[in-house]
Amino acid sequence: MSKAKIAVLVSGGGTNLQALIDAQGNVITSGEITLVISNKPNAYALTRAEKANIKTAVVEKTSGQQAFEDEIISLLEANDIDLIVLAGFMCILSDRFTKRFDRRIINVHPSLIPSFCGEGFYGLRVHNAALEKGVKVTGATVHFVNEIPDGGEIIMQKAVDILPDDTAETLQKRVMQQAEWKILPASAQLVCEQILKGGN
Ligand code: GAR
Repeated sequence: MSKAKIAVLVSGGGTNLQALIDAQGNVITSGEITLVISNKPNAYALTRAEKANIKTAVVEKTSGQQAFEDEIISLLEANDIDLIVLAGFMCILSDRFTKRFDRRIINVHPSLIPSFCGEGFYGLRVHNAALEKGVKVTGATVHFVNEIPDGGEIIMQKAVDILPDDTAETLQKRVMQQAEWKILPASAQLVCEQILKGGN
């Protein structure tokens, strides 16, 4: 295998997907994005994938968690995917799914885990919680995905200062620019390298 095949799972705007696409050939040399799956048919992330000539699929959660995951698993297997990257994918995956792809799923979360993470902490809610608490530093984390939401082994983290006038929106943007868009591609490369070496 010359490059690991990466599937990116998305739900929204897809700026992290864009960072991964832009990192291909420079930061990401050991992997290639060959599939993007969205659970939302109108996610802008799908347009980003199409513009980059990456195959896309939409899998909506219409008839329960198991059927939803089975459809995703079929797509991953049919496309020989080696690494699954959750990039703003707003669905929690079951034990059954995460165990099947042990150390083959990574996620980017917009805080320094273990702060402001777990079920219910996603998107702007994470930044609102950080502002409410009054922390002066936040950041982003990339971690392996296991059966505990945001609980898997940490791969990379990057800290970002909170400024006095920040709103959840300004903070989200700074965390993306200074942390997420850097550590997600770097972590994807690291894990792809490990996969190519046949290791864990
Ligand atoms: C990102 O900030 C990502 O870290 C966060 O959602 C945003 C998606 O933006 N993910 C979570 O909160 C997961 N718990 P994007 O669609 O522009 O990449």
